[in-house]
Amino acid sequence: MIAIDTLPETQRYSRAVESSKRVRWDIEKDVIRGRRFDTAHKFLPDGLSLAGEFTTLSPGERRFVSQIQGRTYANIFGLVERFINAKVLELSHDHWFGDQVALEALVRFSDEELKHQALFRRIDAMIGDVLPSGYRFDVDANAVAHAVLGKSTWAVLALTLDIELFTLLHYTQSIAPDAELSEIFRDVFLYHWKEESQHAILDELELLRIDAETTAEQRDRAVDEFIELVAAVDGILQVQATADAGYFVATCGRAVDEAEARAIEAGFLKAYRWQYIHSGARHPRFVKVLTGVITGGQGERIQAALATLQ
Ligand SMILES: [Fe+2]
Ligand SMILES: [Fe+2]
Repeated sequence: MIAIDTLPETQRYSRAVESSKRVRWDIEKDVIRGRRFDTAHKFLPDGLSLAGEFTTLSPGERRFVSQIQGRTYANIFGLVERFINAKVLELSHDHWFGDQVALEALVRFSDEELKHQALFRRIDAMIGDVLPSGYRFDVDANAVAHAVLGKSTWAVLALTLDIELFTLLHYTQSIAPDAELSEIFRDVFLYHWKEESQHAILDELELLRIDAETTAEQRDRAVDEFIELVAAVDGILQVQATADAGYFVATCGRAVDEAEARAIEAGFLKAYRWQYIHSGARHPRFVKVLTGVITGGQGERIQAALATLQ
């Protein structure tokens, strides 16, 4: 079988359309199937939640941390998919009177992201039914989307490729192999992975298409914008780590002193930075695509910025 990344562009768009049709799923009929979440199980696997870093917590408390992080994981995807979908709709404009297969691929991509946002809203509510009240996720998806879409398309596509590649990596390396995970949680990200596999291919095609019409000066500015976007993601993660650690402390059922509360908050932030920043920045495909279009100096600027987020 020919590796998909060696095919001509039109064929890669058409492969994405074929795969999208083949894996198409329904939220209730295929994913939820009348099930509920059970707090006896972990939601996010240890490889993502970094449960081992929460050294002061009991096994049951670490499971609760995985459930809080799992809820936030669904909410973060719901958040980023708002701007991803808006950018995909905008990019589809370039194909209106051109390659109709590429247009169909982006229309399906957009339709899938709308469905995924509905799925993640459903998951947030379902987890809310079984966890203590008081959880907060106050980030406004539309305000974030407006801020992100104020940057150049090159920068937004670089961030999108990063996100959609780490989505795939998280599922195959951490979520799928963890036998102790909640079955419904694993299924949500199995079905999400099936459709995201096409998105990551389309992100790359669109990024390279936009890159080909970008001047060296524009690309240099776009690299800075990409760094600004990663810093903005980190700002959201800092706020959410504080909120989630505060929720844990308030609802874990025992007294937590100031020093332990600070350690728990640091544990949440380290896990979120791993999940949403570092695991993607190191993804081999992301590194390959990005280094193929930027200079060594631009790569060093990105690495220096990432190094400050530890
Ligand atoms: Fe998605
Ligand atoms: Fe996606």
